[in-house]
Amino acid sequence: MAKPKLVILTGAGMSAESGISTFRDSGGLWEQYRVEDVATIEGYERNPELVINFYNERRRQLPTVKPCRGHELLAELERDYDVTIVTQNVDDLHERAGSTNIVHLHGELMKATSTLRPNDPSQIVTLAPDRMDIHMGDKAADGSQLRPFIVWFGEAVPNIERAAELAMQADIFVVIGTSLNVYPAAGLVQFVSHDAPIYLIDPKPVQWQTTHPHTVIQKGASEGVAELIELLKQQ
Ligand code: APR
Repeated sequence: MAKPKLVILTGAGMSAESGISTFRDSGGLWEQYRVEDVATIEGYERNPELVINFYNERRRQLPTVKPCRGHELLAELERDYDVTIVTQNVDDLHERAGSTNIVHLHGELMKATSTLRPNDPSQIVTLAPDRMDIHMGDKAADGSQLRPFIVWFGEAVPNIERAAELAMQADIFVVIGTSLNVYPAAGLVQFVSHDAPIYLIDPKPVQWQTTHPHTVIQKGASEGVAELIELLKQQ
C-alpha cells in the first residue's frame, strides 16, 4: 500500500522559531533592507558587491541556528507519508532536520553559481562551511563572477513546474509560515485537487483568496505541526 502523498509548502515562518527573521513581519528583513537593492536581478547588476555581501551575512547566520521542532516533526512524517517539502526558504534547516525530499523554489544560501548562466547545473557549486563567503573576483566555472544561487525577483523560478506537478498529485497539502504574497509560489495551492484537504499553519491570519476548503491551525510552526500530526491521525 503506497504511502499517502503529503506536500508541504513552507515559507520564512517555518524558520522563525530557529531564529531566522521573516521578511514581512514587523522587524522583518524587508524593514531593514530595500528589496530592490538586495533581492532583484536589477539590484545585483547595479551593485553586485552589496548583494553578494547581503547574502554573505545571511549565510554566516546558518551555522549559528538549528532546525526547530517543527522542522524535525516534518522529517519524522516521512515514516508514514510520502513527503515532499516545497520550500521558499533558502536556508538548509529542512535538510539538517532530516527531510530527504526537498524542492527549493527560491534557491539555496549554501550554493553559488555563474552570473552568466545561473541555472546551468554545471555552474552550481556548494559553498564549504569554512569558506562560505563569496567575494568580488571569485569566478564560476564559466569565468563569470560567482553569485549567490538565489532566485531574485525578476528571475525565473525553474522548479515551479515540478512543484505544480507535486501539488496536483498531493493527497494532502500543507502550508506553513508563508504570507502567500509572492508568486508563482503562492499560486501552487490552485493546483491542489479539490478532494485533497489543505491545512494552513500560521500564528497570524493569512489573507488567502481561495475557494479551496482548508483547515487553519493558527499556531507557530512547531506547535502547529504537532497539532497537524494529531489531526492526520484522526483522518
Ligand atoms: N511559525 C509559523 N509561521 C510564522 C511564525 C512562526 N513562528 N512567525 C511568523 N510566521 C508567519 C507570518 O505570519 C507570515 O505569514 O510566516 C509568514 C512569513 O511571511 P513572509 O515574511 O512574507 O515570508 P514568505 O511568505 O516566506 O516570503 C516569500 O518573499 O522576499 C521573498 O524570496 C523571499 O521566499 C521569500 C518570499
